[in-house]
Amino acid sequence: MDEEFRAVIDLEGVTKHYEVGPVLVTALGGIDLHVSAGEFVVILGASGSGKTTTLNLIGALDTASSGKITVGGRDLSNSSRSELFALRRETVSFIFQSFNLFPSLTATENVEFGMDVSGRRDSADPEEILTSVGLSHRLGHFPHELSGGEQQRVAIARALATGNPVLLADEPTGELDFKTGSQILELLAEQADSDRVVLVVTHNREISRMADRVVEMSSGQIVSDGPPPGGKTPLSELRW
Ligand SMILES: Nc1ncnc2c1ncn2[C@@H]1O[C@H](COP(=O)(O)OP(=O)(O)O)[C@@H](O)[C@H]1O
Ligand SMILES: [Mg+2]
Repeated sequence: MDEEFRAVIDLEGVTKHYEVGPVLVTALGGIDLHVSAGEFVVILGASGSGKTTTLNLIGALDTASSGKITVGGRDLSNSSRSELFALRRETVSFIFQSFNLFPSLTATENVEFGMDVSGRRDSADPEEILTSVGLSHRLGHFPHELSGGEQQRVAIARALATGNPVLLADEPTGELDFKTGSQILELLAEQADSDRVVLVVTHNREISRMADRVVEMSSGQIVSDGPPPGGKTPLSELRW
């Protein structure tokens, strides 16, 4: 795969419909989105606006009803199941609201799992990655021995350990208090570089003000895309 295209996300006219009994629910009514390498993007919208659906389509966890999706140079609409599996393994990594760590594995083992998934066991050091997210003193701890913020840091470390160029976070601060949540957002924003894009979903408009770019969704449509009104605001000045 051509390196310079690895981190690019492209959605063109993407729709997603769900059949719920006799009712057809339109989760996405035709969206266009382009994300370039190095970008940190916040996807903002009320509950039910289509944020999670968008993230799951980009992450190849679900398939679009129509339209074209390209992630890291792969055309998802024309991909076989095994190609989609490869995309999930080699291109995207997810961070969830509820951390989703393996409860019986230590912090280090959870991160090693991320390496195993992407076949990087020998090329990255879990302790180094955990240290980079501020957890050098928690390596042998199990999830239940960690605070929410620390658990989310382990989840971020696990995502980074894959070495994958697209990092997708769905409401990553949803279960955290203001201070912890802002530290997690700062950590996520720092991960966007020339080799990696970071997409963070939130329903919290105040949070979105700390991003360079905010994609706002409403009723399955993108209603605006650009810098937040008033420009990017330092996290320290936000009030959640
Ligand atoms: N599996 C599903 N079956 C039926 N409807 C769904 C399903 N997933 C999502 N929806 C609907 O699609 C819309 C968008 O959902 P979602 O992407 O989860 O929104 P958000 O993450 O912004 O809260 C909502 O109306 C939701 O009820
Ligand atoms: Mg959601």
